[in-house]
Amino acid sequence: MKPCEGAGRQQQTAAGDERRLHDDPQCRAEQAQAEDPWRECMDTAVQLALQAGQVVKKALTEEKRVSTKTSVVDLVTETDHLVEELLISALREKYPTHRFIGEESTSAGSKCILTNSPTWIIDPIDGTCNFVHRFPPVAVSIGFSVNRELEFGVIYHCTEGKMYTGRKGQGAFCNQERLHVTKETGIRNAFILTEIGPKRDPATLKLFLGNMEKFLKFQAHGIRIIGSATLALCHVASGAADGYYQFGLHCWDLAAATVIIREAGGVVIDTSGGPLDLMSCRVVAAGTMELAQSIAQELQTINYGRDDD
Ligand code: IPD
Repeated sequence: MKPCEGAGRQQQTAAGDERRLHDDPQCRAEQAQAEDPWRECMDTAVQLALQAGQVVKKALTEEKRVSTKTSVVDLVTETDHLVEELLISALREKYPTHRFIGEESTSAGSKCILTNSPTWIIDPIDGTCNFVHRFPPVAVSIGFSVNRELEFGVIYHCTEGKMYTGRKGQGAFCNQERLHVTKETGIRNAFILTEIGPKRDPATLKLFLGNMEKFLKFQAHGIRIIGSATLALCHVASGAADGYYQFGLHCWDLAAATVIIREAGGVVIDTSGGPLDLMSCRVVAAGTMELAQSIAQELQTINYGRDDD
């Protein structure tokens, strides 16, 4: 047996092998995986996200029944409900003691409260408006928290077949390729993503456009809106964008992506510049703390309440 094989059996290795176990990042990763209590849950999430992604991809080009939720631009389809049911019923069968927070269950009246219990935080289709219009960025997002700490995140880009994963302490990947954020520190030259959120009243629009205008005035290289908060956050993780901010997103948009960005070396904070509050409906993410703080400093707050209100 090579020293790295069966990393859990570390005590059986000779002193030299032990040293190797310590020094070799591959060995360390294997050992961490062997001892990881939530690895099996993460593997299940990857399998289910793939299955759910096939359902979403097939439905993308079919006729849809569309309804509205909090506003006329906050859309939901029968596929959102179907996929959430598919995910939660499979997970509940396998992990009967775990708790669930799902976008559509919450809309239907389920409580959205994070406890210390192992909790799955699910967005069955992120980018529902894109999905309705057959615009490609649509994703299935599955986050997992224990003791209110995010343990792993899985986001499947349904139309590009990209599986983004992040496991606390073990790095972030897209289809096995390691993800790294950019090192951009200032707004000038930065490529920044945001999303509009579901409110369109004049006061909200004024604040939203005012925030965007500031970054443009500061000579950010670009501001983009792609219609899927989770995938926009994955772009920060992969280094395709330097930063992200939004008011009005939910814990199911944020949970999985937060682990992925942090594991790619980035930061995810509150729009006040303080620590992230998953339930606060506000976020700034960036490759560096300097950029995240600079973005946060410029933002005028748009009040969306809290997920757990
Ligand atoms: C929404 C999308 C949208 C963002 C919203 C999200 P949904 O998720 O990510 O781009 O502006 O804040 O809630 O409704 O498509 O799952």
